[in-house]
Amino acid sequence: MSETHHHVTLTVNGVVRETTVPGRRLLSDCLRHDLGLTGTHVGCEHGVCGACTVLLDGEPVRSCLTFAVTVDGHEITTVEGLARGGALSPVQRAFTECHALQCGFCTPGFLCTVTAFLRDNPAPSEEEAREAVAGNLCRCTGYQNILKAVHRAAEIQAEEGGA
Ligand code: FES
Ligand code: FES
Repeated sequence: MSETHHHVTLTVNGVVRETTVPGRRLLSDCLRHDLGLTGTHVGCEHGVCGACTVLLDGEPVRSCLTFAVTVDGHEITTVEGLARGGALSPVQRAFTECHALQCGFCTPGFLCTVTAFLRDNPAPSEEEAREAVAGNLCRCTGYQNILKAVHRAAEIQAEEGGA
């Protein structure tokens, strides 16, 4: 028996995108393969590493644990949508400034996670910052520069009056 396909409409990075997917198509695969947005990385594919994190209606979710059909009609922000008008976002700039990436595989997930975190908590304590990134794994950096970047991004946002 052939698999049923579903028409889904997503607003991705402010653009309405439509596609047809099998019921079990993961959002991560939908973004990468159906919509060509390969900035979202896939590491563990079972909810552990956080590399696939995107924003669903502004909240971080693991796109490898989300079926595309379940987010029909919703807004998704991927790493490709963080920059504004060709300029890197404060979080992206802070990661660059603080050398918070090496291979960069984990980075899209961290950027999405930290973007949502600082929107909700613009002046985090050290402990809050650590907790915020605790669900994202990085095999390269040792996390110290990532934590510096979280605080630097908060500073940049404060200087610039918001994200
Ligand atoms: S790829 Fe989704 S959490 Fe690791
Ligand atoms: S920079 Fe390589 S996994 Fe984080």
